Amino acid sequence: MKKEDALKMDSIDPISEFKNEFKYGNKSPKDKIYFCGNSLGLQHNSVKEKINSHLYQWETNAVESHFSGSYPWVEIQNKIKFILKDFLGCSESEIAIMNALSVNLHLLLISFYRPNKKKYKIIMEENAFSSDRYVVNSQLKLHGHNESDLILLKSKDNTISEEYIIETIERNKDEVCMVLLPGIQYYTGQYFDLQPISKKCKEHNVTFGVDFAHAIGNVKINLKEIDIDFATWCSYKYLNSGPGGISGIYINSRNLKNNVFRLEGWWGNKLSTRFEMKKQCDLDKTTEGWQISNPPIILLDIHLASIEIFKKIGLDSLFIKSKSLTKFLYKGLTDISNYQDYFKILTPKNPERRGAQLSLYFLEKSEMIFEKLNNRFVIDYRKPNVLRIAPVPLYNSYEEVYEFVKELEKILNDIK
Ligand SMILES: Cc1ncc(COP(=O)(O)O)c(C=O)c1O
Repeated sequence: MKKEDALKMDSIDPISEFKNEFKYGNKSPKDKIYFCGNSLGLQHNSVKEKINSHLYQWETNAVESHFSGSYPWVEIQNKIKFILKDFLGCSESEIAIMNALSVNLHLLLISFYRPNKKKYKIIMEENAFSSDRYVVNSQLKLHGHNESDLILLKSKDNTISEEYIIETIERNKDEVCMVLLPGIQYYTGQYFDLQPISKKCKEHNVTFGVDFAHAIGNVKINLKEIDIDFATWCSYKYLNSGPGGISGIYINSRNLKNNVFRLEGWWGNKLSTRFEMKKQCDLDKTTEGWQISNPPIILLDIHLASIEIFKKIGLDSLFIKSKSLTKFLYKGLTDISNYQDYFKILTPKNPERRGAQLSLYFLEKSEMIFEKLNNRFVIDYRKPNVLRIAPVPLYNSYEEVYEFVKELEKILNDIK
């Protein structure tokens, strides 16, 4: 890997200037290089301005800000949905911006996990993100079932093939009522081709839900095409919407027609009658009918400020750069001489089968290698052996990738 190649790539990168709009460190050479956008995205300049104007609105117009002024709070939900529909490839009425991911997963399972005597099992990955597993375990208990009613997908050579998932659904079709998968696996960075799985689910009357935590803002999603039943995600990773940022849900319009049961609260009531304070909830017929409480406006504000940047850049340009940047990292890592003596890359080699993140499994001394790398780089260490590195197209450069590879190479040479 040559520095001049990295610099040349940066010089022809059409979106390189957006890097300067993101805040990190003190803008000094001592700052670490940030490769952790898969965990918490960086703050865009416009966020502070949005928060300040929110505080000003609250200070000057208080409750009237909900409905009046040049930026009524009640309209922010629609502004977010208008932009986010292009991230998801669905219609605005299929989206609601609300709560946090795990809470949303519970609300969705309340609606869509409807076991009966015959069909009650859930298929999910054996190594799903802990919170997803806890949500599913407790939902099983809520219905008088337990963990033995899970069918767990095991990975082979670090990935889970779609063929194996389809075959598992087919084999268990009489007992399975739900499949829950990630869009991108948080640990390995594997991208799932969801469309054939969705087709198989429909064939056997199996509900299909997806957690897009590591996919939204990272890869193109086309929900119209993949036609799953429901989804949720979080906004604080690739969407840069701040720690604990507001999440959202998707419900396929075919399910909106079916009067699916949901837990009710006043914010799921149609806006037109919401404040009539009736005894019965007049449910909104769109996905907004799944809302329960009034939303934290400041989190909506931050979320909107952040996704407006994506709209300005264009998702296509962003994803083109993302593929190229991670390819550059992959090539640099696999060009390190005898790299296989030190680490293997768990993430698929094919750029179509992954997003920005690469996960490196170290055969030994992973903690020491992490600590040395961590002097210059912010990366994610999943004990005991895996380092996850995510070069993010909005604010990472090819030169930073070059610096990372050179540093790792030096550390590996030193421990020889
Ligand atoms: C795949 C996945 N599921 C669930 C969660 C939990 O999210 P939250 O704390 O927002 O509920 C995370 C958070 O990183 C995640 O990556």
